[in-house]
Amino acid sequence: MKVILGIGGGIAAYKAAELARALVEREMTVQVVMTRAAREFVRPLTFAALTGRKVITGMFDPDGAIEHIRLAQESDVLVVAPATANLLAKFAHGLADDFLSTLYLAFTGPVALAPAMNSNMWLHPATQANLETLRARGHHILDPEDGPLACGMTGPGRLADPLRIATFIQALAERRRDMEGETVLVTAGPTQEPLDPVRFISNRSSGKMGYALAEAAAARGARVILISGPVRLAAPPGVTLVRVRTASQMRAAVMEHFEQAGIIVKAAAVADYHLASVPAMKIKKTAARISLELDPTPDILAEVGRKKGSRLLIGFAAETENLVQEARRKLESKNCDMVVANLVGQEGTGFESDRNEVVLVLKTGEMVPLPAASKREIAGRIFDHALRLRLALAQ
Ligand code: CTP
Repeated sequence: MKVILGIGGGIAAYKAAELARALVEREMTVQVVMTRAAREFVRPLTFAALTGRKVITGMFDPDGAIEHIRLAQESDVLVVAPATANLLAKFAHGLADDFLSTLYLAFTGPVALAPAMNSNMWLHPATQANLETLRARGHHILDPEDGPLACGMTGPGRLADPLRIATFIQALAERRRDMEGETVLVTAGPTQEPLDPVRFISNRSSGKMGYALAEAAAARGARVILISGPVRLAAPPGVTLVRVRTASQMRAAVMEHFEQAGIIVKAAAVADYHLASVPAMKIKKTAARISLELDPTPDILAEVGRKKGSRLLIGFAAETENLVQEARRKLESKNCDMVVANLVGQEGTGFESDRNEVVLVLKTGEMVPLPAASKREIAGRIFDHALRLRLALAQ
């Protein structure tokens, strides 16, 4: 696998070294191309040492003029990290005034762009319009993360985690793109049900399983809509994130988007009860016992189950006992095609863990135990079985 790593001129250029290293560790041949501005931040020698190849720095390097065509033809993926606002603008408009922008025009394979910049530059309508153009061209935009920035501001603009970029690039390079053309809707995380303006009821879901599913589907080429309750996770690369807080907001978002999807995965731990009318003022403490009267929230999975048509519907069942029986009951009562059942309340798997151990209960009557593995691996296996199940159900 041959990857071109284009590096733009931003402070995040130093993180591209970690990315180069991660790509090499994944056994990819990495050809680094640096813009003039990138070389102001990091020296080419760093990348030459990491990749074992001479870094291309300019159009007029010896052989530069023909190199960009040859390099474009023999490479599997072009990733640009950090992609500055300037580079995004040049790519969007087809400007070719240096090696990287010229190479971009000559390259016909998959392109992944990992922007990093100041929040105001990222949010500027010009940058957003350029991103829209690049997305429409089918490029993968690996959205920046929120957080403190080198300029002192806090907000969106930090380069996505280099290791996650590397995993995404590996999947692109391997062209394990068996979900291309597919739209997948995933719900993730807990919901929060307010009790008053400052308090809420929620649960221990971390969102990790849902985010792993979104990441796995996107890496395999699917368009992914991720509807997420409040979690501390960055949106996986290339995924459209819709943030919600309550069960009823999650329901509204799912109802708005599910018709576009061929596969719907409901990994969210939706609160089952909420306070139907939330007081406008904070509940004051008194010496007396208080009680809350809670009403059931809408069962989103069951509602999608009634409306799903031929869409593949995957539910989750987190149980503390009678795992398979409960999963089978939910499969039938909510009209799912698959229920991913996991035992919760154990050490090392489940809610807050990075690992999980689940049983897939399928509409065909099959039961597939998946041994303990990382949530990312489990996510991949769930989609392997989902694609197979869909074929089986179509016959
Ligand atoms: N779910 C949902 N809407 C709700 C509650 C649950 O869409 N209001 C979905 C979850 O996303 C999950 C599945 O239903 O995919 C099962 O959730 P779970 O909490 O295990 O089941 P419940 O139906 O709530 O049943 P119980 O709490 O009695 O086990």
